[in-house]
Formats: sequence, C-alpha cells, structure tokens
Amino acid sequence: MSTNNPRITVIGTGYLGATHAVCMALLGFDVLGVDVDSSKIDLLQSGRVPFFEPGLPEKLAEALDSGRLRFSTDLDEAAAFGDVHFICVGTPQARDSAAADLRYVDAAFAGLAERITRKALLVGKSTVPIGTAARLTSLVQTISPLGPELELAWNPEFLREGFAVADTLHPDRLVFGVSSEWAREQLARVFQPIVDEGTPVIVADLATAELVKVAANSFLATKISYINAMAEVCEATGADVSLLATALSLDDRIGGRFLKPGLGFGGGCLPKDIRAFRHRAEELGIGQAVSFLGEVDSINIRRRVRTVDLVRELAGGDLSGVRVAALGAAFKPNSDDVRDAPALDVARMLYLEGASVSVYDPQANANAHRVFPDLNYADSLSESVRDADVVVLLTEWQEFRDADPDELGALVRYRRIVDGRHALDADDYRLKGWEYRALGRPAQSGTVALRLDRRDEVAAT
Ligand SMILES: NC(=O)c1ccc[n+]([C@@H]2O[C@H](COP(=O)([O-])OP(=O)(O)OC[C@H]3O[C@@H](n4cnc5c(N)ncnc54)[C@H](O)[C@@H]3O)[C@@H](O)[C@H]2O)c1
Repeated sequence: MSTNNPRITVIGTGYLGATHAVCMALLGFDVLGVDVDSSKIDLLQSGRVPFFEPGLPEKLAEALDSGRLRFSTDLDEAAAFGDVHFICVGTPQARDSAAADLRYVDAAFAGLAERITRKALLVGKSTVPIGTAARLTSLVQTISPLGPELELAWNPEFLREGFAVADTLHPDRLVFGVSSEWAREQLARVFQPIVDEGTPVIVADLATAELVKVAANSFLATKISYINAMAEVCEATGADVSLLATALSLDDRIGGRFLKPGLGFGGGCLPKDIRAFRHRAEELGIGQAVSFLGEVDSINIRRRVRTVDLVRELAGGDLSGVRVAALGAAFKPNSDDVRDAPALDVARMLYLEGASVSVYDPQANANAHRVFPDLNYADSLSESVRDADVVVLLTEWQEFRDADPDELGALVRYRRIVDGRHALDADDYRLKGWEYRALGRPAQSGTVALRLDRRDEVAAT
C-alpha cells in the first residue's frame, strides 16, 4: 500500500475495537489502538487478546509483527497520529433506564476534538441512538480549535462475536454515514481493500447509518422471539416447535436463519439495542412505531423463566437442595462474553430457588465468576455433571453437543436433561435412559434436525 495512506486510530479496544484495529493493520494501514484500560492495552501490546475470539490471537501476532499496529493509553498521541479516528467505545444500557449510556462515546469524541489540530475525520462505530451523530457533530465542532474542519461520520459495525475477524475483513455490506463528499472519500480510502472485493457500500446520511444498525438488530431479535412466542403456544397446546420451525423454514420467504427456538438472545448488543431503540423512539414521540420491541424483549426474558420451570419440573417440583449442572455461561458459543447472558441468568435463578448449581463453560467461567461469584464453577464438563440431579444445557458449545450421553450418564445421579438450546439428539439421550426435555416440545418428542445455518448457532450479533 502507498505511504500516503490515512493513518488510523481505534479508540476503545474491546471486542469490536481490538478486532477492527488488528484487521485494519492487516489490510496495510498504520494503526494505533487506544483504550482507557491500561491492563487491556498492556495485554494487546504484548500480543495477548484480553477476551476469547477464535482466530484473533493469530491475527494480532501477525499485525504486531508487521510493525503497523501498536497500542497506547495516550489520547494526545492518538490525536497527533491519526487522520481517521474510529470510535469503538461501549454504549451499555444506562443503570437507571432503558436508554443507552452515551458517556463513553461523548468522552471519546470530546477528548479527541479538544486535541486534534489538523483536518481529520472522526468515525463512530459504536451502536448509538438515532440523532447521536448530529448531536456529536455540534459538540465536537464547538469544542475543536478546527471548528467545522473537524468532520464526523458514522460507520456501524455488524461483526458477530465468534466470527469477528472474518466479519470485519469480509462484511456483508459497508454503511458509510457521511455529511460531505470529503468524508465519503476518506471512508472509501480506508475500506478500499474490502470494497475492491465487491462488498456492497451503502452511502447514507448520518441518521440512516445509525438506524441501519439498530433496525438490523431489532429484526434479528424479533425473528428469534417470534419462534419463541410460537414455542409458548406449543407448550400450551402440545404442538412441537421444532417441527414447526422446520416447516416454516422451508418457505423461502421466511427462511431458517435466526428461526431457532430455545433460550433466546442475550449478549452486549441485542437486548440493550432494542431497549435503547424503544427509549429513543419514545423521546422522538414515535414510541408506538417500535412498541412491539417491548414484547420481543418480554418473550425473550420469559424463555429464561420457562427454562427454570422445566428444570424444576424434572427435579420433582422443588429446587431446594437439588444439584444442577449448568452447561454454559457465555451468551453464545465461541465467546467468553457474559453480558446479559441467558445462561448465567438461568443459573442465577436456579441458585436463588435453592438449587446447588455447578456451572461449566469452556471459556467464560472467569467472566461469569466476576459477575456472579456465588455460583460454583467447575473446571470441566465431567466435574460439572458429577452427581447432578438435573443437567441443563444453556449455551450450545460443540463440546456439549459432542458429549456422549452414556458417559455423562455414568457421572450424574439422575439421567435428566433440559436442552435449553435444542442442540442435542433427543432420541439418543432417551435411548440411553435420559429423561429429555426441551422448550416448546412435548415431553416425548423425538429428534428433529432443524434446518440451520451453522453461522446461526449463535443467536446474536
Ligand atoms: N461486541 C460486538 O459484537 C459488537 C458488534 C457490533 C457493534 N458493537 C458495538 O460496539 C461498541 C463497543 O462494543 P464492545 O463489545 O467492543 O464493548 P467492550 O466493552 O468490549 O469495549 C469497549 C471498550 O471501550 C473502552 N473505553 C471506554 N471509554 C473509553 C474512552 N473514553 N477512551 C478509550 N476507550 C474507552 C473500554 O475500556 C473498553 O475496552 C458498542 O456500542 C456495541 O454495541 C459491538
């Protein structure tokens, strides 16, 4: 690549930012990653990824070896270094409302605006409520010594944890939210290697770019909750949601992706994004337009309660003193992220009803322990299920799918399992003497091979 390529900074090096920084360096740009968390920066600079993301450690090593990537906590350095600054900080749910907490975004934009002294582009990548980019434009142009010379763009990110590197390097589409031709040109230069692969680019205004992301997440959440609402109907009528999902998915207009019944969605994106979208719509006076997202959220939360019901049923109606092996803590497989994780929520509810819960997740035990230290954490699948009265599958890691029902059966006290993710072979478990139950399925339902795309085992972005 030519030496007059724009120099890139990435502000916020969490799941999104660390991956973006690494990938931009791999694409040939000089990149500086910045975070306020010095322990994260130290790890990254020494070649270690502070979270679990398949393939990222190798790519980080490659990027560091190239000499094009380094990390710092110094925002002054970032302001001096960068031509295009990507802001990738967190936008969690506010503590006291459904709104997004924008304090980190505001601090990052304002911090850069105070320091930048030559024309540069600030690009928001974090997921934000509609109107944030317009508000931030006024903010940064008021603060900055450059005034309107300091421009802002929005480039929403669609990567999925577990597939972050591939999604960043080969996205389905790129969205450039811009308010000038100059800003569009800067983004086109930065993403040129990806655009050259034939990736579709949508050039939009700032508000549309913000909306694409929340609208996409709302749609995906709705599709998951739709099939889970049907699971509730199945539970009341004796119908089988797995057969239903299979039949629906054969209609091309509906499709099978994200039509997977089970414990529902969680993580650091879908739940808080649909709540923040509703909140923002209320503020705009158009709450009714997306009030259905409240139902989507409620259906999703009810799946967690229903999973606890099933475990209780299998345990004979009372959970106190019951030994439950909880398989999984992360919000989806191939991630160690436990933010709003359905698995951990179910484990917590079981514990609060008096069960003795032994959690095992192949990657997320440490994060789960930080959030919920009162649960017992096992170092292995076999340790978790030893002497269990009930086993409940909460995150569909391959290790759990591959487990042999006979081998597990030899370890437990009672062969009873709740398959919270419709991930196991019901027939095989029954054949091997297990009482097998799954959400939205009659007690004696057989194995149904859902028509799934492997990429959707993970029900969230
Ligand atoms: N994780 C995903 O899969 C994903 C996908 C698409 C979009 N997003 C969006 O991207 C954003 C970041 O998500 P994430 O999962 O990477 O969060 P994260 O919590 O893993 O990372 C955020 C990072 O920002 C840092 N930070 C906070 N304030 C800062 C500041 N002022 N300066 C520098 N660094 C600062 C934090 O220390 C943290 O390391 C969110 O808006 C999220 O909705 C995430």
